[in-house]
Amino acid sequence: MQERLKELQMEAIEKVNAAQDLKELNDIRVAYLGKKGPITEVLRGMGKLSAEERPIMGALANEVREAITTKLTEKQEKLEAEEVQKKLATESIDVTLPGRPVKVGSHHPLTAVIEEIEDLFLGMGYTIAEGPEVEKDYYNFEALNLPKGHPARDMQDSFYITEEILLRTHTSPVQARTMEKHKGKGPVKIICPGKVYRRDSDDATHSHQFMQIEGLVIDENIRMSDLKGTLATFAKKMFGEDREIRLRPSFFPFTEPSVEMDISCFMCGGSGCNVCKKTGWIEILGAGMVHPNVLEMAGFDSKKYTGFAFGMGPERIAMLKYGIDDIRHFYTNDRRFVSQFNRV
Ligand code: DAH
Repeated sequence: MQERLKELQMEAIEKVNAAQDLKELNDIRVAYLGKKGPITEVLRGMGKLSAEERPIMGALANEVREAITTKLTEKQEKLEAEEVQKKLATESIDVTLPGRPVKVGSHHPLTAVIEEIEDLFLGMGYTIAEGPEVEKDYYNFEALNLPKGHPARDMQDSFYITEEILLRTHTSPVQARTMEKHKGKGPVKIICPGKVYRRDSDDATHSHQFMQIEGLVIDENIRMSDLKGTLATFAKKMFGEDREIRLRPSFFPFTEPSVEMDISCFMCGGSGCNVCKKTGWIEILGAGMVHPNVLEMAGFDSKKYTGFAFGMGPERIAMLKYGIDDIRHFYTNDRRFVSQFNRV
């Protein structure tokens, strides 16, 4: 029995030494030390031994078991370490290799400009309002002091769907709708970005569909100087701190007085160049003090409340900012154009 145990020990250790991987090692463990293994079997036969022999054999069996276990553990650690090394070797990454650039999409230049403008006005406490693109004649014209037959309707050639419904020609109807919702109570402080439609032939500066951003502020004691300060802040943010603005008298049916705002040319600083057509000034937007008729039609007391409004074309602003010479580039989805505005 003693010899059998010694033999088993040697045999097991030999196998452990020869084992190539952890699975093989585990098989050996089960085969020799498991419940059905030969050592257990030897121990089971101990009942037949004499009282003197039994403790000697017991001690030996334990020794053998321990010797095999120690060897198994040693080998297991070795194999595990080897496996880690192998993994490190095969999975190593050369961090000095140049990376493959991930293609990142970007905002359309028009979206980028609109968001920049939105951010500026949100920062000044405005909220964003929206309205339908298929609009009632009432909101698009009438509520803006443009009754049927008014000659100024001809300034905006329209796509009519029925006599009373059209594609909105500007974002000003959102003014009328928002004021109406306020039920005669100020303050109102909104900008409305959105698509508008006009029956124009497309060329480098005209598009039958384009974007506008409308602004409207109504409260007690709103003055022209508030409008001027707001527009100056806007001009500086969009075109540089050195920009100056100038307001020229103009006409819009929904504002009185009405103005057009120019900014000092960001290209030549005012001395005259091609961008400003040698005038030193660039026309940017229309604005004015909300006409009392417009306030009253929307339910505001024009003796208590005053307000200012402005409307601009983000395409024009983007064209000036990025030196884009044709409005159609925004809408033809030529990737050679849009990809120039990719983030690096
Ligand atoms: N709605 C005008 C247009 O499309 C732009 C405009 C001018 C809007 C003056 C305004 C404003 O709110 O005060 O031509």
